Amino acid sequence: MNKSGGSAIPILVLVSGNGTNLQALLDAEKENRLGGGVIRGVVSDRAGAFALTRAAAENIPCFTELPDTSLPREQRRRDLSDRILKRARETDAVLIILAGFLSILEGELIHAYAGRIINIHPSLLPKFGGPGMYGDRVHRAVLDSGETESGCTVHIVDEGTDTGPALLRRRVPVLPGDTPDSLAERIHREEHTAIVEAAALMAERLASGTEKVFEN
Ligand code: GRF
Repeated sequence: MNKSGGSAIPILVLVSGNGTNLQALLDAEKENRLGGGVIRGVVSDRAGAFALTRAAAENIPCFTELPDTSLPREQRRRDLSDRILKRARETDAVLIILAGFLSILEGELIHAYAGRIINIHPSLLPKFGGPGMYGDRVHRAVLDSGETESGCTVHIVDEGTDTGPALLRRRVPVLPGDTPDSLAERIHREEHTAIVEAAALMAERLASGTEKVFEN
C-alpha cells in the first residue's frame, strides 16, 4: 500500500555494477519510504554484478541479461531491450528504474513503458549527458569545464540518451582540489537520496493516476 492507501506498485530495477543505488531502494522499501513501490525483480547486464548479491540477500528474483556481442549495435540494443521487456512483464512491473545501468535501451520497451522508466545520471542534466557520458568521464568533463557545481538528475527515459524530462535534481559544490573520484563520491551520496525520492514520487503518481508533472 502507498501513503494514500493505493495498491502496491511493482518495480523492476536494472543494474550493471556495485548497486549502492539499488541498496538505497531496498532499504527504503523496508522502511516504507518507497511510496508503495515494491521491488519485484532485478536485472543485470553484467555477469556477477555485486548488485545481484544485494538483491539475492533480500530474496528478490535476479536475472542476468547479457548484451549479445555477436549482433551489430542497433540489433544488440533492441535484443537486450526486448529481453528486459519480457522480464518486466513476467514480474508485472509497472515502474522500471535504471539504477546504474549502462546499456542503452530502445524499441518496444520504451513505448510500452513510456513515462514509467526512470534513470539516475551523475550530473545536472542536460549538462554532461548523452552518448559516452558515464562514470568518470562525466566528472572529468565537469572539472575540465570549470563548473562550480554538479550533482545528479533523475529523469524519465525516452528514446534519446539522457534526454527525457527531469523528475528531480540534487546539487553539490565542486570544491578546489576535487578529483573525479572525490566529486563522484560527493555526488554518489546525493544519488541515494535522489533515487529513493524519485521512485517514491513515481510510485505515488502511478498509484493515484496523477497527471505527470516534471521539473522541466
Ligand atoms: C551511479 O553514479 C549512477 O549515477 C551511474 O552509475 C553509478 C552506479 O552506482 N549511472 P551504483 O552501482 O548504484 O553504486
